[in-house]
Amino acid sequence: MTEQIAVIPGDGIGHEVVPPAIRVLDAVADFEYVEVEAGDAVKARTGDPLPDETYDAVTEADATLFGATGDTSADVIIPLRRAVDAFVNVRPARTYPGVDAVQPETDLVILRENTEGVYAGMENRLTDGVSTLTRLVTKSASERLAEFACDYAETSGVDELTVVHKSNVMRVTDGLFKETVQDVAEQRGVDTDPVLMDAMAMFLAMNPEEYDVLVCPNLAGDMLSDLAAGLVGGLGLLPSANVGSERGIFEPVHGCAPDIAGEGVANPLATILSGAMLLEFLDYDDAGQAVRDAVEGVLSDGPRTPDLGGDATTDEVGDAVVDRL
Ligand code: NAI
Ligand code: MG
Repeated sequence: MTEQIAVIPGDGIGHEVVPPAIRVLDAVADFEYVEVEAGDAVKARTGDPLPDETYDAVTEADATLFGATGDTSADVIIPLRRAVDAFVNVRPARTYPGVDAVQPETDLVILRENTEGVYAGMENRLTDGVSTLTRLVTKSASERLAEFACDYAETSGVDELTVVHKSNVMRVTDGLFKETVQDVAEQRGVDTDPVLMDAMAMFLAMNPEEYDVLVCPNLAGDMLSDLAAGLVGGLGLLPSANVGSERGIFEPVHGCAPDIAGEGVANPLATILSGAMLLEFLDYDDAGQAVRDAVEGVLSDGPRTPDLGGDATTDEVGDAVVDRL
């Protein structure tokens, strides 16, 4: 069977980092690709940032490779994550030999709740000067995140989950989140360490090596993953997987980087590593590992893009990964 992969370059550097990632996938697997549009550019042309054709391609494909979109991101990636019921966003952050990292001992994964929290889309402007937002936390979403986290801990040989929350202030919503995650973990025989999310930011900045798996509400997971990116060498290195059910969407943690778009210098490795996660999701474990090894080799010996202190282009780095495969 040839798996079908929906491909959404999106906006800005999405168009620069996705093609090398496809060349890498082509070097190790035989997929069929369906490229579709989403984001600011297609909205400007047609009025719709998420055309039906794109939505259908994602819900029909075995997996999706997503670059990045711009200001329309909330209208694109959030509905797509829901469309495939990808209830967790897996965001590993680790350092690599050869990369100058603020915290060289970092090796952790953020499991971000992907469907609710303050990203549930329930915002209102009540009057000209007053706005509100409803924060949604359900027991069912917290439970399935916790089950996923326990599975993840078991397969990766980790015996404790760090549960990120702010239940001292958001007593009802994060109270439910924290309690539910801890209950599930207790039933599964996995230890938990609850940490307040503001303190978590400091602990991560100072002692990231003490953490393995962080189970986070949606916004906290989003913020802490960019913080983790800062510890390991920048957003050019952080991949992510929107998973949990049958289909997955794989995307770099970064956005469409308008400040460098069009220059051909974006780091493609976050997207290439997202491709490795896609391969593993589809059970191509050896191919996924081969891609990781090739990325590691390139990071150690070069070439590197300017965000990592080099002067190589996006395509040169992508081609160097392909050459190693
Ligand atoms: P960003 O992630 O696009 O960029 C932040 C900084 O990191 C910039 O200085 C950028 O040049 C750098 N950077 C990001 N990716 C890089 C790469 N691959 N190589 C080298 N440097 C890289 O975040 P920003 O600037 O806050 O947002 C820009 C746009 O992207 C906004 O419209 C935002 O809504 C959107 N966005 C979309 C996301 C998505 O599609 N899932 C996620 C985050 C932001
Ligand atoms: Mg983000």
